[in-house]
Amino acid sequence: MEDKKEQPLRSREWFGGNDKMGFVHRSWLRNQGYPDDHFRGRPVIGICNTWSELTPCNGHLRDFAEFVKKGVLEAGGFPLEFPVMSLGETIMRPTTMLFRNLASMDTEESIRANPLDGIVLLTGCDKTTPSTLMGACSVDLPTIVVPGGPMLSGRYKDGYIGSGSFNWIFKEKQKTGGLTEEELLEVEICAARSNGHCNTMGTASTMATMVEALGLTLPGASAIPAVDARKKVMAQLSGRRIVDMVREDLTLSKILTRQAFENAIVVNAATGGSTNLIIHLLAIAGRIGVDLALDDFDKIGSKIPLLVNLMPAGKYLMEDYFYAGGLPVVLKELGDLLHGNVITVNGKTIRENNAGAECYNRDVIAGIDTPLQTEAGIAVLRGNLCENGAVIKPSAATPALMKHRGRAVVFESMEDYHARIDLPELDIDENCVIVLKSVGPKGYPGMPEVGNVDLPEKLLVRGVKDMVRISDGRMSGTAYGTVVLHVSPESAIGGTLALVQDGDIIELDVENRRLHLDVPPEVLANRKAAWQAPEPHTQRGYVRLYLDHVQQAHLGADLDVLVGKSGAGVKGDLH
Ligand code: FES
Repeated sequence: MEDKKEQPLRSREWFGGNDKMGFVHRSWLRNQGYPDDHFRGRPVIGICNTWSELTPCNGHLRDFAEFVKKGVLEAGGFPLEFPVMSLGETIMRPTTMLFRNLASMDTEESIRANPLDGIVLLTGCDKTTPSTLMGACSVDLPTIVVPGGPMLSGRYKDGYIGSGSFNWIFKEKQKTGGLTEEELLEVEICAARSNGHCNTMGTASTMATMVEALGLTLPGASAIPAVDARKKVMAQLSGRRIVDMVREDLTLSKILTRQAFENAIVVNAATGGSTNLIIHLLAIAGRIGVDLALDDFDKIGSKIPLLVNLMPAGKYLMEDYFYAGGLPVVLKELGDLLHGNVITVNGKTIRENNAGAECYNRDVIAGIDTPLQTEAGIAVLRGNLCENGAVIKPSAATPALMKHRGRAVVFESMEDYHARIDLPELDIDENCVIVLKSVGPKGYPGMPEVGNVDLPEKLLVRGVKDMVRISDGRMSGTAYGTVVLHVSPESAIGGTLALVQDGDIIELDVENRRLHLDVPPEVLANRKAAWQAPEPHTQRGYVRLYLDHVQQAHLGADLDVLVGKSGAGVKGDLH
């Protein structure tokens, strides 16, 4: 089969030779039953699959790969599926974030070491999208993303259950006697009633939205429910398209421009996406070589109107969003707030792709002139408590707490928090500020999603719904509250957060982007002099590598040795 264009195929280095190594590379693969023409100039497409039975949100991706393969074959390519480390959010300990960078290394090296010309990333659960995309960026071949899609809406009796979001009221329900044990079991079953990832605008939906906004999926791909037949069609069409992307040499770096990243920030604000976008987008930008900084998220995103009425902040779920028109409607509504001329994987601009989008339910997706909130997005805070920044999602916070001065109640670790938070004698009220240390990148390690810690039981039963909480950790995209996250530098490396003591006064002023520890500098200096770094969690293995190299949250928490790209070239061969 001839290429449409004279584009040299990388895979020819493996399959094109008539020497001993050409024989070796072809011969062993023939044991899978591939006809000879598969080795004679077809673009070889690697289908990078994060399927795993231990990642329930990605449990259907094995089937999906077959639809991608159909598309690749139809377009004249040669599909080869390969597994990479899969990160199951609800199962893995201590936190999937500890392994995001490891999974990205797996993806990067699996792509580079093999005879691949183009890549399809099959993703779903939270970290499976950024990890594989980070790895793919460091190789920079033509790449398309096939998001696995959200679950159908969770339904219990006559109401919705947002997967993930319900977890955050679980304790409250248990403690306040809102549900019997039988009812809770029923809720457990009703909350996850089909294949797919969390059905709120949690982190998985945020990541799927992000890749579509970056131009890395076919138009409209991100919101299609996992079990909808149109998802399979999208997978098949993506398989067809990646073959042509190889022929056009449409590599990731041609799509992932600074403007594309700015679009992703705007779209995250308009869709009420997760704060986790920040840390993943920074890491992806670092890999592809785009200059992006924490403050860009505030500068570009914080004045953007909220258009999407989805949990956790809103009312609906991803299935409703898809029926209302999905992301294409949002992209059309945003109009000139986006860089409309950026190119996407189908070779068209984002404006061209979405110009014909129609909204079918204005209660789910608001028009740009009638937004749900006039300013959404993420606020980046500065102050002596976070010299390198911290973040808060105002749309998920309580307005009355956005300017707050309160007494710190400090927990030195998650273990300390669990041991004391519900003690009747704990000196805490709703005006206090809960400070949680040692949950940053190095501290936990892995920067878990614990920033939105539950409130003390004695306040919950009194009906207290929210308090200011501050930590160096992250928050699930399905969560909400007045929660300051990603404090950098983190406490485990001696950031000011490490020096906070019970009774200190903390000032939060979101409007003025301020987070201040009201303790005299000389007192802080004395505390700093007495501070001792914690012992490393381990001396060996990947976690040791991670601890030695992980960067702080404001840089994306990638390993310093992984930032940037090495391209697709490989020196050496089998001998
Ligand atoms: Fe996988 Fe929420 S647990 S997406």
